[in-house]
Amino acid sequence: MLQGKSLIDPMDFSVQELNEIFNLAHQIISNPREFSHVCDGKLLATLFFEPSTRTKFSFEAAMMRLGGKVLGFSEPNSSSVSKGESLADTVRTVSCYADIIAMRHPKEGAAKVAEMYAEVPVINAGDGGHQHPTQTLTDLLTIKTVKGSFNNMTIGICGDLKFGRTVHSLLKAMSRYENNKFILISPNELKIPDYIREEILQKNNIEFMEVEKLEDVMGSLDILYMTRVQKERFFNEEEYLRLRDSYILTEEKMKLAKNDMIVLHPLPRVNEISNEVDNDKRAYYFKQAKYGMYVRMALIAKLLGVV
Ligand code: NCD
Repeated sequence: MLQGKSLIDPMDFSVQELNEIFNLAHQIISNPREFSHVCDGKLLATLFFEPSTRTKFSFEAAMMRLGGKVLGFSEPNSSSVSKGESLADTVRTVSCYADIIAMRHPKEGAAKVAEMYAEVPVINAGDGGHQHPTQTLTDLLTIKTVKGSFNNMTIGICGDLKFGRTVHSLLKAMSRYENNKFILISPNELKIPDYIREEILQKNNIEFMEVEKLEDVMGSLDILYMTRVQKERFFNEEEYLRLRDSYILTEEKMKLAKNDMIVLHPLPRVNEISNEVDNDKRAYYFKQAKYGMYVRMALIAKLLGVV
């Protein structure tokens, strides 16, 4: 039963509940008209304390395509936060007006705090370098639709594995499926945090390896998940500039990959995938963005209990 729940961490929902969401997303994709009024009279508040294009727009588009309405801010300086209001008070107040909240915040754990004070479901749209569970729903729906399964795959995750919250959430979520192998590709400075390596991968006996060179492993991958080096989380500009171009996926490198490998990326891309790869039939990142809207439609409808 998903009605009334919040989504703060990818493990908040059972595999069964995730399947309910993916099944509903597929129903919406094949018959969007049937769902175009299920949220009539409902309001989504989007509280974005950190910049976003896709996530904010896809939440808003999702709610509007369900017949609901949206209010919110993307510039905290234009809200009472700039007067010193606490997150707890902001969220309590917004709960008086909206039926559901989607929030992005630069601080790790902020979504959890919001959930504690909100009277309505809270969806974590990214909390600092921690988690981003709705991007993971997007990634999983794409994998399920294109690959037909969540099992028996070799998944390469490449780029900023230290600060990339989408990486942390994807690893958590995929750790529950069977017989997957992870190849973690990053410079030494941007390896996955210890808590992910120990609590998720080692504890669950998941096969993984950590490597630095993308070319060496390209041929073994079923999925390549590229990520951006997270500029905004660096303390030191020089270090960012040094690591920024660690990986650039080119058509030349794509020649090393299997014919049915797929390339995913949460976007925005900076220059880690060159534009020439966009025309490769294995490039799925823009379709992935579209799945993101459908899966958020399914999520909102389930949490509001309207379907
Ligand atoms: C991601 C994020 O915000 O963490 N973007 C997104 O939501 N699609 C990835 C990123 O910013 O690199």
